[in-house]
Amino acid sequence: MDLQGRRILLIISGGIAAFKSLDLIRRLREQGATVRCVLTKGGAQFVTPLSVSALSEEKVYQDIFSLTDEAEMGHINLSREADLLVVAPASADIMARMASGLASDLATTALLATDKPVMVVPAMNVRMWEHAATQANIETLRSRGVMCVGPVEGNMACGEYGYGRMSEVEDVVAAIVAHLAPRSGALAGRRAIVTSGPTHEAIDPVRYIANRSSGKQGHAIAAALAREGADTVLVSGPTALPNPAGVTMVKVETARDMLAACETALPAEIAVCVAAVADWRVADAAAQKLKKNGGGPPPLELSENPDILRTLAKAGNKRPSLVIGFAAETENVVANAQAKCKNKNTDWILANDVSPDTGTFGGDANTIHLVDGTDSVESWPTMTKDEVANRLVSRIGGHFGASA
Ligand code: CTP
Repeated sequence: MDLQGRRILLIISGGIAAFKSLDLIRRLREQGATVRCVLTKGGAQFVTPLSVSALSEEKVYQDIFSLTDEAEMGHINLSREADLLVVAPASADIMARMASGLASDLATTALLATDKPVMVVPAMNVRMWEHAATQANIETLRSRGVMCVGPVEGNMACGEYGYGRMSEVEDVVAAIVAHLAPRSGALAGRRAIVTSGPTHEAIDPVRYIANRSSGKQGHAIAAALAREGADTVLVSGPTALPNPAGVTMVKVETARDMLAACETALPAEIAVCVAAVADWRVADAAAQKLKKNGGGPPPLELSENPDILRTLAKAGNKRPSLVIGFAAETENVVANAQAKCKNKNTDWILANDVSPDTGTFGGDANTIHLVDGTDSVESWPTMTKDEVANRLVSRIGGHFGASA
């Protein structure tokens, strides 16, 4: 009964896989969840409201303009009163409408009005899944923190083979449990924000300013926080890394987007800023590709980017109670880190030497000196980035344990 007391709003959109959502309702209820369903017009072509309501033992919601529905349960409350919104199956059409922010029926209105986590379980023909429009839509949804389960590869009802089949019901239930089940661990019940990776600052539509950060250290810390039970939001610039298990992923490009995503993720008790944020951006990024016109290279005027760590650490009553930064230094490592700790109002700074001969940027190992605004320095032996993450998270657990 991993989902005891949890409330799920299941949106069933059109597709032959809609029959699987009936089994999904049954399995979620077996785990103790309450399942309330919205059936789209397309969904109702494949499963009947009667079977959905019989299995959920709840009223089925279908019509945005139904006076009785609005009197009993407004469409805003429908999404607000859930712990998680699951769209299964999610057709190409409903994902396109979600990506565009449309509110053209009850399902998309509830999805637009919600402040709760959303999971989509796509199911469609392989060509529809592979279409650039669908791929762009899913990327947009992912960048807004929408979780995506599947699709998987296999035979399709239409006779074709490929990606597009809805994930098996047990895999969908497992993803829901992983997201909703009460977490144990020293940081259970605490919320953490982690920044990771580089940022990309456009020069023109094809060129950008960036740096060599791989995102490995930030991703490892987010994964370790989630393993320790923290409700973890990972705000990452472009990296080639897979999303760590159990975190809410928000993908961004620029420093300004990263700051906005962090501010949206507040309130949190823990902030760990690991991202190698570009300090500068081009003041006026060109709308068209800059051409060589024989007049020499174009002058690039730079503006300073917001400092995300400093902004979070000086966020007044929204300040996370433990704000941790990194300091990438090539000389006077400890002294520079101590100065950064004071200037940026952080609790701890993990300083590392990123001189080219250390191989820290992009590599797998890190040598850390932890400073905390006093004169004391804690020097850790050289460790892998995963080991650094585990040691930091156990120190964070100790910090909250000691202050509990
Ligand atoms: N940082 C940030 N936003 C920025 C710049 C840095 O959040 N615009 C954070 C980094 O994630 C890191 C810390 O600040 O946790 C220090 O980053 P670092 O690059 O070492 O220092 P800077 O503040 O950029 O200073 P300098 O480049 O002058 O050393």
